[in-house]
Amino acid sequence: MKAIHVLNGPNLNLLGTREPDVYGHETLADIEARLSAVAALQNVTLHFRQSNHEGDLVTWIQDAGRAGEPVILNAGAYSHTSIAIFDAIKGSNAHVIEVHLSNIHAREHFRHHSRLSAAARGVIVGFGSRSYDLALQALLFAPTTGES
Ligand code: DQA
Repeated sequence: MKAIHVLNGPNLNLLGTREPDVYGHETLADIEARLSAVAALQNVTLHFRQSNHEGDLVTWIQDAGRAGEPVILNAGAYSHTSIAIFDAIKGSNAHVIEVHLSNIHAREHFRHHSRLSAAARGVIVGFGSRSYDLALQALLFAPTTGES
């Protein structure tokens, strides 16, 4: 494995100040720095991106799928609504681990269902920013989830 994509959807650029009781105090840059250090030790390049636009996520997932490079995906609220992102995962055969900082199942009813989970190889929810670390560990060290 040469590269892993960490893709973040809408409002995740606000991490650090956004509802810290729900999402914690770490920023996306903090998470990127921590994950990049772990990936570098394994000679893996991390491509860490965020967009508030659904189409950007669709394009990035397609690109990763085409390249055969796995994705850690927090699609934010699009997780609950986006057939386009579901189709991008299925259509490009992207190897996606879905993550959420919060335990979406313990929150508002409209967050309980993710449209993306059925297309993902695995789902990690509820461990705060450590959900990302756990997904990276799965890709690096769990062969059955690490290879497309
Ligand atoms: C989130 C959960 C979503 O319901 C929410 O819309 C987000 C963040 C999480 O990481 O817990 O933006 O994906």
